[in-house]
Amino acid sequence: MTPLSLFLFLSTLLILPLSAEQAVTYPSTKKWDYIGCYNETSPQEIGPRILSGGIDEALPGMTVPMCLAFCFSNFFKFAGVEYAQECYCSDFFSLKNMPVREELCDMPCVGNGSLICGGALHVNVYQTKGGRRNAAAVQEKGFRGRWGCWLALGVALAVAVGGAV
Ligand SMILES: *[C@@H]1O[C@H](CO)[C@@H](O)[C@H](O)[C@H]1NC(C)=O
Ligand SMILES: *[C@@H]1O[C@H](CO)[C@@H](O)[C@H](O)[C@H]1NC(C)=O
Repeated sequence: MTPLSLFLFLSTLLILPLSAEQAVTYPSTKKWDYIGCYNETSPQEIGPRILSGGIDEALPGMTVPMCLAFCFSNFFKFAGVEYAQECYCSDFFSLKNMPVREELCDMPCVGNGSLICGGALHVNVYQTKGGRRNAAAVQEKGFRGRWGCWLALGVALAVAVGGAV
């Protein structure tokens, strides 16, 4: 090997792992747990899709965070990305559909090529932390928030009165 070809060989070794842009599975977040790659109900099969009875959208700018935000703001318990640009939100997660090898969820998101958005009839499924439930959890938070306001008002009044005396 000439020094030049050795140099080229070594730089190829260095550059290849850096340049190979590999899409990765979007990990769990503060609000969502990543559950895994699951198989979708095939069109030939009679039965609900894996995440059914909720809402869905397919957007040319789809990313995993976008799908999670969409499902979270609509108070759904489960979110799934499929086929590069589809997003499903549901409170029902079919028990018939099975976890499959992670490699089968292999399509980069159309809106962000460095993230995986499911595959053909394969879905990356996410679940809200602590089994967050529909509207109930939100009402509870609002209730606590209101009491927090009253408490703050009480403290402010006490300080004002105390200061005046
Ligand atoms: C995929 O999910 C369907 C439910 O639609 C199930 O009947 C089937 O056994 C699953 N196949 C695999 C390979 O997990
Ligand atoms: C794509 O996703 C990665 C990983 O989450 C993130 O760092 C990057 O900012 C995203 N890019 C765009 C354009 O959203």
